[in-house]
Amino acid sequence: MHVTVDGEEVPVRPGQTIAAVLHTLGRSRIFCGIGVCFDCVVELNDVPDVRSCQRIAADGDIVRTRS
Ligand code: FES
Repeated sequence: MHVTVDGEEVPVRPGQTIAAVLHTLGRSRIFCGIGVCFDCVVELNDVPDVRSCQRIAADGDIVRTRS
C-alpha cells in the first residue's frame, strides 16, 4: 500500500493516518491529533483543507502538504 506525498511515493501500513505518514517523513504539523485544531490540514485527492489526523490513508491517495 502506497500514497503519494508531494510527488513522492511512500509506503503506508493499514490503519495509518495521513498525519502519521507525514510524521514518518518529518513533515507533520500535528498539534491536537483529535480533529480540533486544523493545524494538520492538507490537500487530499484534490480536496483542500482535509484534517490529516482524521483520515486513514488509502492506497493511491495523493497528498499535497503545500499549495
Ligand atoms: S492535529 Fe489538530 S486537527 Fe489534526
